[in-house]
Amino acid sequence: MNLLIVYGTTEGQTRKVAERMATDIRGRGHRVELLDSAKFTPDLKLGHFDAFVIAASVHQEHHQEAVTTFVFAHHDLLSGKPSALVSVSLSAALEGHGAAARKYVDHFVSLTGWQPRMTLLLGGALRFTKYDYFQEQFVKFVVMKGEDPGPEQDHEFTDWNALAGFTDRFLATVG
Ligand SMILES: Cc1cc2nc3c(=O)[nH]c(=O)nc-3n(C[C@H](O)[C@H](O)[C@H](O)COP(=O)(O)O)c2cc1C
Repeated sequence: MNLLIVYGTTEGQTRKVAERMATDIRGRGHRVELLDSAKFTPDLKLGHFDAFVIAASVHQEHHQEAVTTFVFAHHDLLSGKPSALVSVSLSAALEGHGAAARKYVDHFVSLTGWQPRMTLLLGGALRFTKYDYFQEQFVKFVVMKGEDPGPEQDHEFTDWNALAGFTDRFLATVG
């Protein structure tokens, strides 16, 4: 099988997620290509792929515009073949924020008209050491709604086992 993973990332966590998925898929004996949505060109040929994974992270309640554009542009292809969405956000990892994580995906689906066969809401990472003032304030007061973020250290919330299980289940549906 030949799969394509298209990813959007702002601080790098979703690239890490996409790379981990690619390693797991190769480990199962399949071919996989990774495409950064920020670099795709309109002449891209996609017809030879058997299945697609779209992975994107949430910033200010939206997934990357480049990913939305890609999915919108290739809606028919994605709808005609097995496809999965991995939505990376802080809300997916925070207790009591699951509804927000689902809302981002619902919005993405209604915007693009693409209904992925499978969806994973996956926790991302906090990178306080890399944030500027605005980013830090947004994460603390809008995303975490003023909850105590604990010591302001970088922290990875991504559940790698959940990702591996999701990858296996998706491959099983592709056949
Ligand atoms: C400025 C900023 C805004 C964010 N906005 C949201 C948000 O609205 N909802 C959410 O759940 N997570 C939000 N996050 C958390 C990111 O989704 C999380 O850090 C994720 O790991 C980023 O993935 P990336 O490194 O692939 O871009 C935000 C993070 C930053 C820095």
